[in-house]
Amino acid sequence: MQLFITGSTGYIGGEILYQFLEKFPQIVIHALYREIGEDLIIKKQIRGENIKCIFGSLDDIKIIKKECEDADIIINAANFNHLKSIQIIKDVLINKRRKTLFLQISGTGKLVNNKLNNNKIFNDVKDIEEINLILNNNEYCETDKIVLSIQKMNLKFIKTAIICPPLIFGIGNGCKNKLSIQIPMMIKWFIELGNGFIINDGNYEWDHSHIFDVGSLFIKIIEKYLKNEEFFNGFKGYYFVQDGNYFNWFELSNYITNLLYSKKLIKNLKIDKLNPTEFKNKYGVSSIYWGSNCRTKGEAGRLIGWVPVKSGDAQFWSDIEDCLTYMQL
Ligand SMILES: NC(=O)c1ccc[n+]([C@@H]2O[C@H](COP(=O)([O-])OP(=O)(O)OC[C@H]3O[C@@H](n4cnc5c(N)ncnc54)[C@H](OP(=O)(O)O)[C@@H]3O)[C@@H](O)[C@H]2O)c1
Repeated sequence: MQLFITGSTGYIGGEILYQFLEKFPQIVIHALYREIGEDLIIKKQIRGENIKCIFGSLDDIKIIKKECEDADIIINAANFNHLKSIQIIKDVLINKRRKTLFLQISGTGKLVNNKLNNNKIFNDVKDIEEINLILNNNEYCETDKIVLSIQKMNLKFIKTAIICPPLIFGIGNGCKNKLSIQIPMMIKWFIELGNGFIINDGNYEWDHSHIFDVGSLFIKIIEKYLKNEEFFNGFKGYYFVQDGNYFNWFELSNYITNLLYSKKLIKNLKIDKLNPTEFKNKYGVSSIYWGSNCRTKGEAGRLIGWVPVKSGDAQFWSDIEDCLTYMQL
């Protein structure tokens, strides 16, 4: 039995690898890394004979192809938008004659690009047909669309699932990057600016999940697969990682601004209003990840026995201070 995992030095991939080793120490792991020296970082955390570090990138066709051919479980946690690697994985899987589980990382933000639907609260069981429709008709969801097409082309041997977290918070257990994206970036940007900001009036809602619960959902699916038990897969295998109540982006900006002010990390309590274009021009990334409606209900995971333990509201808010501590601020 062999696992091939990408992104193992990353926030999400690192957490998955950490939990995978705890749960399945007997399974051989092949972990992709792309910078010289990262193999030592991985091996320092992950002791034992069962791990082999593979030097290469998602663009290395031969490496990705061989690793996917040899693996029984493939986890792609490096990049949810890397088309070339997904295409290679698909080419291997549709022709494979060995049972394989393929798990792909995604993100709820992708659904927001369908502006017409962004007031809806998506449920990963009840709304699965609509979710598939959105993914299949949205240029930003090309990778998800390819993953969704794989299983039906090789039903006998292949099972796939897409794990779709919202904003992730918490300090990860990975070997290198332990920090998420959205909240740490807000902290950094607010400090640079000397005050907070919101997108438009900030009156938008997202949901959140702790990095531990993201990792544990991957592990739960693998556990079910290895025990030959039922789990959602193929076009139904789209799992939102959601727990607790939706947070409001204005409240989050306000909370971080107050916290930074109380620690004398910013000079005043002002909160600027940026429109999406101003934000994009200033920070070079899409504002949807810091101000949009993106609300989901994660039922699929719960129905297969996943129990989130760290993603509640109280932990979400209190974790922001832990994040500052980790960032040595
Ligand atoms: N964090 C969140 O809140 C969140 C939520 C939903 C979805 N996502 C998405 O999930 C994916 C992973 O996120 P993350 O937070 O774990 O990011 P991260 O901490 O930056 O980790 C990315 C990992 O992938 C590796 N990697 C990236 N591009 C690669 C390439 N071309 N070839 C080989 N390895 C490559 C990185 O290697 P190095 O260590 O060498 O850089 C690192 O191990 C991203 O697409 C992200 O947008 C993130």
